[in-house]
Amino acid sequence: MTKKMTFPQKGLEEAAIWQAMECARQGDVDWRAGRLPGFYVHFANDDVDRIGKIALEKFHATNALGLSAFPSIKKFESEVAEWALSLFHGVGGVASITSGGTESIFIAMKTAREWAKVTRPEVTKPKMLISHSAHPAFDKAAKYLGLEVVRIMPRDDFKTDIAALKAALDEQTIIMAGSAPQFTMGVFDQIEELAALASERNIWFHTDACVGGFLSPFAEQNGHQIPLWDFRVKGVKSISADLHKYGFAPKGASIVAFSDAEYQQYQVFDFNNWSRGRYVTSTFAGTRSGANIAASWAVMRFLGNEGYCKIAEQIWTIRETLMREIPTIEDLFVYGDPELTVMSYGSKSLDAADIAAGLAAKGWHTVAPSLNPPAINLGILSLAFGEVVEAYLTDLRDVIAQLNAGEKSFDRSLIGTYGTK
Ligand SMILES: Cc1ncc(COP(=O)(O)O)c(C=O)c1O
Repeated sequence: MTKKMTFPQKGLEEAAIWQAMECARQGDVDWRAGRLPGFYVHFANDDVDRIGKIALEKFHATNALGLSAFPSIKKFESEVAEWALSLFHGVGGVASITSGGTESIFIAMKTAREWAKVTRPEVTKPKMLISHSAHPAFDKAAKYLGLEVVRIMPRDDFKTDIAALKAALDEQTIIMAGSAPQFTMGVFDQIEELAALASERNIWFHTDACVGGFLSPFAEQNGHQIPLWDFRVKGVKSISADLHKYGFAPKGASIVAFSDAEYQQYQVFDFNNWSRGRYVTSTFAGTRSGANIAASWAVMRFLGNEGYCKIAEQIWTIRETLMREIPTIEDLFVYGDPELTVMSYGSKSLDAADIAAGLAAKGWHTVAPSLNPPAINLGILSLAFGEVVEAYLTDLRDVIAQLNAGEKSFDRSLIGTYGTK
């Protein structure tokens, strides 16, 4: 039986606390050295990182539940929301800051469900139709909200199979969604076609731009061809876009945006039946950190459009290197046609788990490959990875050569997971 800890009796001296915490972090991945290709840490550069950290510290005690007590946080949230709306061509809409992509998707789905209760009262078993490539956050939201989810297998190019989706549409369908881009293969679903289809049938359409929301607008301005995904597309009613991904804000910040202020009535939780009086929140949390909101504001104000465009171009250069070099490695190919900066590669003959284990043995924190089809996921989430991309490619070449020569010793237990288990 594992020994359970008991609550510590005495406090520790400050020095001992830092020592214990330094000791605990010895096993953490060296993310600043870029050893984490594709998961968990978005990083632009040390200056952006410093600005975010200082803002976190300055506003660490603020509570964004109490906007009357903290007008600074109210200003930061409304300005970040308005900047995001203008970036997404959603002037006239509304937006809130949530704790992350999962919460943004949850709030969008909750809003859609409440909207459907009013506009589609005949629906008894509300259903959501998404492509199989959509993030699990949709199922998480659906589970909490009592929605049925139907996932449609994508086409061979990993985009939504619209014919199959049409066949699955029925009178109970209240929500459709597409990714811009998908987390795994990095392609965009056909947002224009899907939103038009949803619009014709009075179905709520959500674009999940958690990954691309704060990168696509700048890549587009830099002249790269990015499929349309935002409020320029008629029928897109909500968007999730993570500040803590390509917004480069510290973790715990995302935007949920709506095309029309009218939808706010379905978004908020407005409660009056308890002893304390009226209680209104726009997101899931009650107490929420104002520090993350302040830090998002600081980072955005620090970078501005010009700064984001510059970073987007640096990321694009790394993307081009990976797209060019990976297929030159014996046996390897990139899946589909990644349209932004996440991608996946596979092997014609080797087991993806062996490749992942080989990379892990060389000190690259590699997360368990996708299963269907088997693929190693890769993304330029962090410019720290850009600093070592050539070393990654060299190690990848070595791993493939070793596996092709019959190497059997790579330890699969070193492979990481996507999630908390
Ligand atoms: C496309 C997509 N949607 C949603 C999410 C969920 O975001 P978060 O982990 O911030 O909750 C992710 C996370 O990577 C994602 O890639």
